[in-house]
Order: sequence, then structure tokens, then C-alpha cells
Amino acid sequence: MNTQYRPTTGPRHDGGQAIATAHAPVFSLIGNTPLIPLRFRTEGVTLLAKCEFLNPSGSIKDRFAQCVMTDAEQRGLLRPDSIILECTSGNTGIALAMVGAARGYGVTILMSESASVERRHLLRQFGAQVILLPKGGTYQAGIDRSREMAARDARYFLTRQFENPLNTQDHEQHTGPEILRQVAGPIDAFVAGYGTGGSLGGCGRAIKARYPQARIVAMEPAEEELHAAECRCCFCIEGVAGKGFVPPLLQNAPLDATVSISAAEALQATRRLHREFGLMVGTSSGANVAAALRIARDLPPDAVIVTLLCDRAERYFSTRLFTESDSSNSKPGTR
Ligand SMILES: Cc1ncc(COP(=O)(O)O)c(C=O)c1O
Repeated sequence: MNTQYRPTTGPRHDGGQAIATAHAPVFSLIGNTPLIPLRFRTEGVTLLAKCEFLNPSGSIKDRFAQCVMTDAEQRGLLRPDSIILECTSGNTGIALAMVGAARGYGVTILMSESASVERRHLLRQFGAQVILLPKGGTYQAGIDRSREMAARDARYFLTRQFENPLNTQDHEQHTGPEILRQVAGPIDAFVAGYGTGGSLGGCGRAIKARYPQARIVAMEPAEEELHAAECRCCFCIEGVAGKGFVPPLLQNAPLDATVSISAAEALQATRRLHREFGLMVGTSSGANVAAALRIARDLPPDAVIVTLLCDRAERYFSTRLFTESDSSNSKPGTR
């Protein structure tokens, strides 16, 4: 993959054409998310969870959407008829659609038809155009298609989430420092999955710079199916890539370890977050928590372990998280 960030396919638009850079009111709701303690009594572990699902479109991706659009506007790369174009498993698309709606740009999203149908509804509700890619296609095929579209039509502005250094930088300069402000004292471990690698790499770098002894841990889905060519991000733990895929933004990240989490473990932990903590989050949040609990086994009981709750559960109604019968119906007070 070409890791060079080329921010636009068309000419710069400035002078009379430029759109005044202004913050949309919804931007004030992005970031500065709470960090909350989750006490798992059975395990005797307390995790610190960064509530990224509280961002206004419902996921951590609001940060990238705001950052990339603000940067593009400031640099005069957008014009009134610009169309934001991205190939995404969904959350980035929803975030871009929200920002596009708030700033008055068209948004076109390429997304696998295997991504949950709720994502399509949200995208269309924000006014975005959705182009579905066939199941079984590779993510790279989607990225290639977006590049072909941008090469043919200068109105398209590619946000290039997989190679755009702003993605990692924004987490290094904002999400990571927020965590450092919110945690009193040293951090022993930071655990998160990765799609583009922006959040794991960016937060990881910020935390490691302050606390070099902190372990930066990647959560990876365990299933063998993820080795197939099929779109990796849309398997059970949506939004998260699997083994064998190292996104360009993660190539120089300060990673100390990886933890493999099965779909069953991710679903079970997600349901625990729903029923034991009242946190209605998506499957990758459960996967992150399952991985963080695994890491906690090797650390002292008072270790400070931070993880991310990436998105909300409402976009998974049609997935196994809600459709599969669940035998782990835990009762109050069992945690
Ligand atoms: C639900 C969910 N979890 C985790 C991630 C990982 O985020 P990143 O792209 O920063 O690696 C994503 C990315 O889209 C996501 O949608």
C-alpha cells in the first residue's frame, strides 16, 4: 500500500472559492470523553475505560472526521461542491457523514455489504450516498475503487484513513493526552484493537512517551476466517482488523504485545458491559475489555490498565451480538 499521504486529487481551492473555516456546533461534542473505572469483582480487576462511544455520531471515528475536515478546510483543499469519499467498515463513514452534514459537503461511502445494515441506515440518514461492495471482496479492492473514482472526478476528496498521518497524530495529540490527564499517576498497560491503527498507535505513542514502562497491547480477533481474503474489518468484531494485517499507520507504533480474542469471548464481554455496567457498547469494546482482563492476569492487582470503548451497540442490532441466543445472562451482583 502506498503510505504517502496525498490530501487531495484536485487543485487547491482558495481565494474567492474558499469556504470559510468554521466549527460546526456538533464539533464541540467531539472528544474530551470521560474515562470511567469498571470494577470486575469476579476477576478482582479494575479497568479504566475511555468512553469513545459518547462522541456525537457514536464512535471514536468522530475525532478523525473532525480533524481531517478541519485540516482540509484550513488548507483550502475543499470547495463548495466537494464530495468526501472514503472506503470504510462503517464508523468512519458515519463520522464523515455527520461532519459532512454539519459543514455542508456531500459524502460518498464505499462499504462492504457484510457490514451491519444499521450502518447503512445511519449513513443515509445523514444524507450520505452509500456504495456497497460485494461480500468476499478485499478491503484493498474498495480502496482501489475509491482512488479510481477520485481520479475520474475532481470533486471527490479522499480522506485516506488508512494512510493519513493526521489519523495517528490526532490521537497522539488529543486522545492520548486526555487519558494522561484523566489517570492520576503512571499507566501500566494500554489495550486496544486496531482497524487503521490510528487510535492504538497514537494513544500508544503518547502514553509510552510519558510512561516508557507502560505496555502497549494490540487486541486481535482470533478467528481463522480472518486470514481469508474477505474484508477483515466486517467479521464478528466489526471495525477491527485481524492477524496478518498490519496497517501502515501501525508499522512504527510502540507495540509490546498482542492478545487474541475469539468472537465468543468478545460477545460475552460485550454483554457483560451491557448487563453488569449498563454500558450499551459495540462488540469491539467487549473485545478490548476481554483483552485487558487477560493482560491484568500478568500484572499486580492494583495495575492501572486503560482500554477503549469504541462505539455504541445500536449499530449491531442485526448482528450476532443481538440475534444469537445468549446463555451468559448474568445476574446483578455477579461481577
Ligand atoms: C468499532 C471499532 N472499533 C475499533 C476501531 C479501531 O480504530 P482505529 O481505526 O483507530 O484502529 C474501529 C475503527 O473503525 C471501529 O470501528
